[in-house]
Amino acid sequence: MTSDRLDQKRLLVIGASSGIGLECVREALRRGYRVRGFSRSAKSIPIIDARLETVSGNATNASDVRSAMLGIDVVLLALGIAASPLALLAPVRLFSDATRIVVEAMKEAGTRRLICVTGFGAGDSRASIGCLQRIVFEGVLGRAYADKDVQEQIIRGSELDWVIARPGILTNSSKTGRYQVLRDASNLRNGFIARSDVADFMVSQVESDAYLRATPVLIR
Ligand SMILES: NC(=O)c1ccc[n+]([C@@H]2O[C@H](COP(=O)([O-])OP(=O)(O)OC[C@H]3O[C@@H](n4cnc5c(N)ncnc54)[C@H](OP(=O)(O)O)[C@@H]3O)[C@@H](O)[C@H]2O)c1
Repeated sequence: MTSDRLDQKRLLVIGASSGIGLECVREALRRGYRVRGFSRSAKSIPIIDARLETVSGNATNASDVRSAMLGIDVVLLALGIAASPLALLAPVRLFSDATRIVVEAMKEAGTRRLICVTGFGAGDSRASIGCLQRIVFEGVLGRAYADKDVQEQIIRGSELDWVIARPGILTNSSKTGRYQVLRDASNLRNGFIARSDVADFMVSQVESDAYLRATPVLIR
């Protein structure tokens, strides 16, 4: 349901110009929130809506993030790196560097709630990856997920109200609103999920405490 109430929370979506972040922008606007969409190419966000403000900036630049945090109630952190073969071989620090800056900026601004996407295989969910799958995982995604591990530790170590969503393999399918949210360590498994459904889950956490300080795996 859409509403234009000015007392609606204002969300900062970091990584708003594509993928899950862009879907978070769409879903948040659909639910009537005011949204600040932040990324290096935020001005290219293909949405025109009076409740959307776009801010171009780099999440690894503290001053850019501090400015973007002004007046924000909840942060949705959905950064990603380009999936080129060269990028897969390069060291990854984006997730940890940006998260340190975001957490610090949130503390300074008094913004309490952080909803972040990492992925199945991050942190303690890695133990649920099968042996064969793990070889591929380490080879292809090892660098990115080592940095996502650090990202998760930074968030867990903060005093924020946080939720970490760990989706399985992402697709660009339409939103279904029907997906599994797995929390029990003995029951974690990989699977496909639409970016739009991940966004549905993330935006649902803006006003729900159901998964506070939890790291659920999302699959359809
Ligand atoms: N692919 C999978 O199957 C899969 C599975 C599980 C989890 N994941 C994770 O899900 C997350 C989202 O992936 P996605 O494919 O939906 O997103 P994506 O299309 O890769 O989008 C990434 C976003 O991050 C922004 N960004 C990157 N570097 C930035 C920086 N320095 N400062 C500000 N913004 C920056 C990009 O915008 P600009 O370029 O404009 O800055 C873009 O808006 C990723 O962390 C990915 O690892 C992926």
